[in-house]
Amino acid sequence: MTLIRKKPEELRSHRWYGVNDLRSFGHRSRTAQMGYHASDYMGKPVIAVLNTWSEINSCHTHFKQRVEEVKRGIWQAGGFPVEMPVMTLAEPFQKPTTMLYRNFLAMEVEEVLRSYPFDGCVLMGGCDKTTPGLLMGAISMNLPAIYLPAGPMLRGDWNGRTLGSGSDTWKYWAELRAGKITEDEWKGVESGIARSPGHCMTMGTASTMTSAAEALGMTLPGFASIPAVDSRHAQHASLTGQRIVEMVWTDLKPSDILTPKSFDNAVTTVLALSGSTNAIVHLVAVARRAGVPLTTARFDALARVTPVLGNIRPAGKYLMEDFFYAGGLRALLAELGDLIDDSQLTVNGATLGENIAGAEIFNDDVIRRRANPLVPNDGLAVLTGNLAPDGAVIKPAAMEAHLLKHRGPAVVFSDYADMAARIDDEALDVTADSVIVLQHAGPVGAPGMPEWGQLPIPQKLLKEGVRDMVRISDARMSGTSYGACVLHVAPESFVGGPLALVKDGDIVELDVPARRLHLDITDDELAARRAAWKAPKRPFERGFGVMHQLHVTQADKGCDFDFLEEKTATGGEPDIH
Ligand code: FES
Repeated sequence: MTLIRKKPEELRSHRWYGVNDLRSFGHRSRTAQMGYHASDYMGKPVIAVLNTWSEINSCHTHFKQRVEEVKRGIWQAGGFPVEMPVMTLAEPFQKPTTMLYRNFLAMEVEEVLRSYPFDGCVLMGGCDKTTPGLLMGAISMNLPAIYLPAGPMLRGDWNGRTLGSGSDTWKYWAELRAGKITEDEWKGVESGIARSPGHCMTMGTASTMTSAAEALGMTLPGFASIPAVDSRHAQHASLTGQRIVEMVWTDLKPSDILTPKSFDNAVTTVLALSGSTNAIVHLVAVARRAGVPLTTARFDALARVTPVLGNIRPAGKYLMEDFFYAGGLRALLAELGDLIDDSQLTVNGATLGENIAGAEIFNDDVIRRRANPLVPNDGLAVLTGNLAPDGAVIKPAAMEAHLLKHRGPAVVFSDYADMAARIDDEALDVTADSVIVLQHAGPVGAPGMPEWGQLPIPQKLLKEGVRDMVRISDARMSGTSYGACVLHVAPESFVGGPLALVKDGDIVELDVPARRLHLDITDDELAARRAAWKAPKRPFERGFGVMHQLHVTQADKGCDFDFLEEKTATGGEPDIH
């Protein structure tokens, strides 16, 4: 593409600062009130630094320092930085789930960019939903935007054992419930599993989505893999600040970068990393904001030809810190070779191919060669059938292989509270062959589609040594989880999807190679149950939740709000005078 070069009077912020009228007097006098001289900002790109830092976001504790480094870069390049706090979305703390508020963040980002005098933005995120939320809002507003990934935290440590976020929580919790470790040992895990700033260092949703953002072309090359506390992370923050100023002058916008091919690159990257299933929901939503019709079927098609090369937990052995030392995402993308379209433009003005040229693998057990993949293909699989007419998702690489084809009787829980009350009941009629079904855990029903999809294995089966069994829900699952968990069943049970019609003892058939999820009852019986089904009362009567339950789309459409998902030219400019 031919890049233009803007004149100062063509900057969007010129309408606030550069004209000579009563309103602009107010803008200038109030900027002076904050201690800035006109020479600090007049004729310069005004850059919003959208910061998801807060005192409750444990993954972003270093953002107070990073924002200063970003601002340093913006000043150096002749811009005017303005830090703007936006919703923090702290995964470990926010109830019922940060997913309920991802669209809230996206709306806030879009409206902040629209309503203030910004020419471009730096998006500071990392903890799970912050990445898609920031990208969705910035794409809809379509000002020059660059993403700053928080970076993974250091490896966890407990008594000399390496711990991975999430994965080892589930593992040692199961060990505790099975009586294999003591309460004191469990407390040791608690104190050592998260020991530095940064997002989860397994291939959870955070590492998956920051890597996807880099593959999309929205970060500086190599940035997504750098541990949060590494000095090179700080250096890249400053470089990001420098770069956004130039992006404003050349008017390099998300719409110039995001194409069907760049989304294919992101999907292929997610698959090659055996990334979180959550990436399906998020990337579909991000793509639809960009006007790219990405479907779950595309994930399945690319999964059939994409090898898993990232040997990272939970599917593999290592952690993000190891991945960085082994060469990071640039090396993995280079190894993917012809599976990546390297002609795609990125935020630094170079193509993806130019950015990964010369990248090397320094440890080919961590980043496998294509000739020696961790898994040859099928990092994710999209299932359909009469139990999931609009699709469901499973992660074959993170489940026990003997369950890939399975038939078993359903044990149904009507909601999470029902499951919590009965799952460990010794009298529960369940065996290792049973299929555990959880209803009302989807986008509307739960509400917000929480990460409940790794349904617990009944305690009596854990004691027998069972560590995996088929589990089905319309929930999501943490990317750090593992097991034969069928997720994202669409449409969800709360709105009358077939999952709502399953009864105890029904035979359920899972056939991952055939991509099939089937409830083995007759069509007539299914129709009779549907006719008898009554819609439950919606959970919210006030606040943001009302908007959510009226407008959220199903998992296969990305769970965006229906009135936000379509691309618009600019998102609309305010009449500022
Ligand atoms: Fe923030 Fe996992 S809790 S990324």
